[in-house]
Amino acid sequence: MTSLRILRPDDWHLHVRDGAQLASVVPFTARQFARAIIMPNLKPPVTTVAMAAAYRDRILAALPAGSRFEPLMTLYLTDTTAPQEIRAAQASGFIFGAKLYPAGATTHSDAGVTAIEKIYPALEAMAECGLVFQVHGEVTDGEVDVFDRERVFIDRILTKVVERFKSLRIVFEHVTTREAVQFVQGARRGVAATITPQHLLLNRNAIFQGGIRPHNYCLPVLKREHDRQALIEAATAEDARFFLGTDSAPHARHSKETCCGSAGIFSAHAAIELYAEAFERAGRLDRLQAFASERGADFYGLPRNSDHIVLERAAWSPPAAYPFDKDELVPFRAGEQLAWRMIEERRA
Ligand code: DOR
Ligand code: ZN
Repeated sequence: MTSLRILRPDDWHLHVRDGAQLASVVPFTARQFARAIIMPNLKPPVTTVAMAAAYRDRILAALPAGSRFEPLMTLYLTDTTAPQEIRAAQASGFIFGAKLYPAGATTHSDAGVTAIEKIYPALEAMAECGLVFQVHGEVTDGEVDVFDRERVFIDRILTKVVERFKSLRIVFEHVTTREAVQFVQGARRGVAATITPQHLLLNRNAIFQGGIRPHNYCLPVLKREHDRQALIEAATAEDARFFLGTDSAPHARHSKETCCGSAGIFSAHAAIELYAEAFERAGRLDRLQAFASERGADFYGLPRNSDHIVLERAAWSPPAAYPFDKDELVPFRAGEQLAWRMIEERRA
């Protein structure tokens, strides 16, 4: 196959930061995707409807002229998120979920949730009004191995929440393990998962390839090859529970290439191309549209997009760096070859 035309995709998990950094990165996503679920882990975090409205305005203002990209906003759950705030979020029309960051789990999670019981009133309200619960599924207990944190989260927390709040719609974000795939496959209706391009393309060897590779470090950290294979099988199966969420997470080069580097991989510059590569290797390019453009919209209860994008088989290399406010950021697969390239659909 040398060219592939699919319905325009959406990104169901994205970090675009704020201020001048936002202006540097959001055009990459707006070029490929119609919509994206915008993560709320700013400093300070987006904890109220008013903050989400203001952030949405800043995103819209940062878009290239003529862009029709639509940011789908989320709230950042804290120990004190009030059920009224949840109901106001659902009523807003522009907020589509609320995100659990276990305190200390990842970038800007220090204001996150310290014990799951603290958000039971918020979850109750979400289950009632239909706001989607987005989960960073890792425990933070220092005694749990970093490679086991997702698996232990399923056993200690997620199983309990899925059972207790039977009508709560849950997205287990950026799943990375075979156990997470199996959990979602066996879960009740209303439980789904997003999968990133890096977790489909790489295993944890990529963090240590000939030396330490900070640009392949994200959270949840890359896992074993058998986990990667389980993710490929899930993404390419005829299973509506698994859909696209890049978790593209830009950091300035100096905060990655340092003695305590930040977690996050920037993939927005080549997101759909990276997924196309993973699906092609699995011999399942025919399922890319379902994964990228159908299942997420269906899960969130939004219409699928009606316009298309075209991917061409044409080798290209992402540059060594892109501008990022006054800094630069190193994109995923910088300087390496990619097999596919998105082109604007030629209009007749
Ligand atoms: O690698 C990550 N980066 N994982 C997260 O959960 C957060 C993200 C970020 O915001 O940089
Ligand atoms: Zn994320």
